[in-house]
Amino acid sequence: MLGGLPTDATIKLTPSQMRTRSHGPATPPPEELAPLFPQLEILELLGCGGMGAVYKARQPKLNRFVALKIILGDAAADPHFAERFQREAQALAKLNHPNIVSVFDFGSVTQSSGLPLDQPGGLDHILYYFLMEFVDGANLRALMQSGEMKPEAALALIPSFCDALQYAHDEGVVHRDIKPENVLVDKKGRLKIADFGLAKLTGSDAHDHTLTRTGMYLGTPRYMAPEQVEKPETVDHRADIYSLGVVFYEMLTGELPMGRFDPPSKKVQVDVKLDDIVLRSLEKEPARRYQHASEIKTDVQGVTGKHLLCRHGRRGAQRTKVSHPSHASAAWRSSARFGLCLASSR
Ligand SMILES: Nc1ncnc2c1ncn2[C@@H]1O[C@H](COP(=O)(O)OP(=O)(O)OP(=O)(O)O)[C@@H](O)[C@H]1O
Ligand SMILES: [Mg+2]
Repeated sequence: MLGGLPTDATIKLTPSQMRTRSHGPATPPPEELAPLFPQLEILELLGCGGMGAVYKARQPKLNRFVALKIILGDAAADPHFAERFQREAQALAKLNHPNIVSVFDFGSVTQSSGLPLDQPGGLDHILYYFLMEFVDGANLRALMQSGEMKPEAALALIPSFCDALQYAHDEGVVHRDIKPENVLVDKKGRLKIADFGLAKLTGSDAHDHTLTRTGMYLGTPRYMAPEQVEKPETVDHRADIYSLGVVFYEMLTGELPMGRFDPPSKKVQVDVKLDDIVLRSLEKEPARRYQHASEIKTDVQGVTGKHLLCRHGRRGAQRTKVSHPSHASAAWRSSARFGLCLASSR
């Protein structure tokens, strides 16, 4: 055990958790990618989603693990993709926050078909990739399925979740695909959001893109704000706030807020004040929703008690009184077991 998580809690999903690609090219095995990335040792496939696949790799020169994401499918076939890719990747690489997966590098490699050019499938094709920080932990989906995601642990994670969103929104970047698979928690309990802005890049909600023209989108509708489904071109940062609300509800209750759903306190034992926070994040009308992720953090901390100090990284810090002792001490116990910390604010 490390930091409360089993040591095998790297982001390895069971076959049922790992989505198989139902369209587009098959996910290449690590050995097939190896010649294309001679600077890396590609170790294993971590998983694949709608837009591509992610591999754990080692960068021997820097003696570190990295995550390699390759873009598969129709998106990269768009003639304007290269330009878009460059523009968006540069914007993403500027995001520098402890709760956002860092982008180290991006680019493209040419994959030779090995066939004569005049034969079907004989054209070489360009494979776009991102090299990212490797998060050694698990994503929220895996944590929820393993039963680790108790309400106390959820409440301990929400402030960092909000910090990451607020930072990106201040930088003018909207995630557009907030869902449990894109929220990672490392073995020390630190939350990191992956795939910032990539939905825009691959056109999951861009109305002018091939994928949408063919009626497919890569984001997960259950987590999308109503306006993102209906009028994707109008989406602003408040779409992420809605998706955060869906994930928050699911983290607390284990269920999705679909149809006529009960507030969290009716389903699990949590402070009734959390109901208002979750429901305000889930307002259908963007103007009635929280307008800033930072407000959610403030309100959640108002319920959990602001003065719990982080056990990790704040050695010698004194625990001060908490405003909701019973709730907070349960949170403390759970978060410590889970390797999480309830810090007042960064
Ligand atoms: N930087 C990373 N470090 C470790 N694991 C990662 C990293 N980025 C993604 N993963 C994991 O790799 C798996 C596949 O990610 P991928 O982004 O391809 O799919 P997804 O998030 O399920 O869907 P989508 O393509 O819509 O983002 C996920 O389980 C994710 O948790
Ligand atoms: Mg992803």
